[in-house]
Amino acid sequence: MKHLISPQDLSLTELDQLLTLADDISNNPKKYSECCHGKKLATLFYEPSTRTRLSFEAAMLNMGGSVLGFSSADSSSAAKGESVADTIRVVSGYADICAMRHPKEGAPYVASMHASIPVINAGDGGHNHPTQTLTDLLTIKSLKGHLDNLTIGCCGDLKFGRTVHSLINAMVQFPNVKFVFISPEELRIPTYLREETLDANHVEYKEVRVLEDVMPELDILYMTRVQKERFFNEEDYIRLKDSFILDNTKMKLAKDDMLVLHPLPRVNEISTEVDADPRAVYFKQAQYGVYVRMALIMTLLGIKQPEE
Ligand code: CP
Repeated sequence: MKHLISPQDLSLTELDQLLTLADDISNNPKKYSECCHGKKLATLFYEPSTRTRLSFEAAMLNMGGSVLGFSSADSSSAAKGESVADTIRVVSGYADICAMRHPKEGAPYVASMHASIPVINAGDGGHNHPTQTLTDLLTIKSLKGHLDNLTIGCCGDLKFGRTVHSLINAMVQFPNVKFVFISPEELRIPTYLREETLDANHVEYKEVRVLEDVMPELDILYMTRVQKERFFNEEDYIRLKDSFILDNTKMKLAKDDMLVLHPLPRVNEISTEVDADPRAVYFKQAQYGVYVRMALIMTLLGIKQPEE
């Protein structure tokens, strides 16, 4: 049995196989409509979610399986003080696979140590969000055609933004990928990622404070929200929340084939006027999340690809 806790849990071969399967699912959804018949997915969400929880549930339902779970810590026995270890021991008897989101870094890893079913990290604090990364990679591969030779701009909250952290961990494996980090000083990319991931893999990157200055050089612009829930101090959040707002004026500076991704939800960081730009692909990206989660559930459950 295998879990997905961090993007590094997948080798390049496994990643390629998952993306290839997700691509086939997106082109032939009917073929997969019964492949998880009789299987149950538990969604254990101790933190709010729209896309991740619902796309996991849609993924299982699309394959003929069933879903159960909770959508907040308050509606589970965590509110009575139950540990993640005890919860997952119990849920292992109710479901075949589980997706867990938790505000504490490492909680899904702890769950995986006590589980007798595969555990998928659906986001742990400011740490990792590997299925968002699979979604991002499928989006980039499907729309750009390749995952190498890209200059990727990551903009916004790069300190707490787990989607950016996971994306970096995955993309450093591909040749000639460069990063441009656009953030306020207070929300810079963490030192451990710079030293242990970027420098250790000899990946070229730079850090800037002005989005307009770097727009022309980007192949991908990955926008992120300044996350109110990760701040200890409301004053800091208010001061930093509108640091970067992507609008049509800034989009004019970009390449004709640059793609704008965003894990969503957005607040103010992308003006709604940008939605009509064909380079804005964040809603398509959310749809790719269903296909890649279908591929992941199948893979972790050891379900073979159905015949044509
Ligand atoms: N992208 C993402 O994780 O969205 P949700 O918080 O809505 O799941």
